[in-house]
Amino acid sequence: MAKVLVIGCGGVASVAIRKCCMHSDVFTELCIASRTLSKCDALKAKLTGKTKTKITTAQVDADKPEEVIALIQKVKPDLVMNIALPYQDLAIMDACLACGVNYLDTANYEPENTDDPAWRETYEKRCREEGFSAYFDYTWQWAYNDKYKKAGLTALLGSGFDPGVTQVFCAYAQKHLFDTIETIDILDCNGGDHGYPFATNFNPEINLREVSAPGSYWENGKWVEVPAMSIRRTYHFDGVGEKDMYLLHHEEIESLAKNIKGVKRIRFFMTFGQSYLTHMKCLENVGMLSTTPVEFEGKEIVPIQFLKALLPDPASLGPRTVGKTNIGCIFTGVKDGKRKTAYIYNVCDHQECYREVESQAISYTTGVPAMIGAMMLVTGKWNKKGVYTPEEFDPDPFMQALNENGLPWKVVEDPALVE
Ligand SMILES: NC(=O)c1ccc[n+]([C@@H]2O[C@H](COP(=O)([O-])OP(=O)(O)OC[C@H]3O[C@@H](n4cnc5c(N)ncnc54)[C@H](OP(=O)(O)O)[C@@H]3O)[C@@H](O)[C@H]2O)c1
Repeated sequence: MAKVLVIGCGGVASVAIRKCCMHSDVFTELCIASRTLSKCDALKAKLTGKTKTKITTAQVDADKPEEVIALIQKVKPDLVMNIALPYQDLAIMDACLACGVNYLDTANYEPENTDDPAWRETYEKRCREEGFSAYFDYTWQWAYNDKYKKAGLTALLGSGFDPGVTQVFCAYAQKHLFDTIETIDILDCNGGDHGYPFATNFNPEINLREVSAPGSYWENGKWVEVPAMSIRRTYHFDGVGEKDMYLLHHEEIESLAKNIKGVKRIRFFMTFGQSYLTHMKCLENVGMLSTTPVEFEGKEIVPIQFLKALLPDPASLGPRTVGKTNIGCIFTGVKDGKRKTAYIYNVCDHQECYREVESQAISYTTGVPAMIGAMMLVTGKWNKKGVYTPEEFDPDPFMQALNENGLPWKVVEDPALVE
């Protein structure tokens, strides 16, 4: 039925591709394209003979729109799934627009070079006007809305778990559980243990940029920014147990503040162990998280990219990670004139994911919703022209697909709330 071009062949993309191949009736053809062709070929070899989906591979540097355009013209896909890095979002959105193809990604745009003066000027203006200073925000991609609408195309932004499923949970709560949602706490708990003193569960560069940024939350119509890791809470997670979690800035807060009418407060918390935090602080203190190039023995290197080369590849953590993740949203609000609270969450087991798709649960919980988002678009279940985030569509078919594709969810009434 649909031909899809997947850009990227890392931890998340591998899961999304394997899951697409389990739905050969929907995804009849896939082209896997990435910077390193050998990784695409290796995945194709693993899947050949196990799926009816026809798989091809290609090499592409997605930082260059002209290369993506040439590839799209050759492959002629119905949809491009961008599962490379957030740095490539705009180049791939431009290429999709030029070729008249729908677009999907799992993380919002951020620039690779945060020292670029042109980007910095816009960024600093946004920091002053909006009040949060994370490098990533939706304004760059929302700016494509009119162009996508005019071209009759859809761009689905952030179809992973968080962002992604967390916003679908919000749309579901809004549709079925509440008349007014007053507060949303998004809790992302990883109770997994990979046995290394320090490793990140997805791309180290993107992960470390995200968690070392100041925290922020949305309250009464504005952003409140706090120093990184300065708000800590403890929560007892179903399937995992008690964990410390820290308030972070996260991109879905930005879109939910716009789309969940009447919401008064939105916060995002992620669990971290002490070892992770100690390592991260040390790396930050010695300058290893810097994105500014330094000269070393006559060669220019970017410290965080060098660090990435030293750390374990997240895609290699699968066989050694044990434990569970629990990600979901706690809501407070009003239904039929009465105050109520509810918690929607998924529990996912690292080893079960590995047995199914040879990956740990972080890539799994992101790759499965990427596949479901693609399924919503190519089957026409989600069909609006323009640039959208997942809470702007009907949550029901997506929620059903989560149950059918390895990410079952629960609704719990009267959960413990986060102070
Ligand atoms: N929404 C969520 O819940 C969520 C959660 C986790 C991650 N994510 C997002 O998922 C995405 C993928 O993460 P990951 O952990 O899978 O990362 P990863 O393992 O580092 O994979 C990234 C892939 O993109 C390819 N790539 C990088 N630059 C490229 C370029 N210029 N042209 C073509 N391909 C390029 C890489 O190629 P090489 O192999 O050559 O390096 C690699 O195959 C990221 O955007 C991340 O932020 C979202």
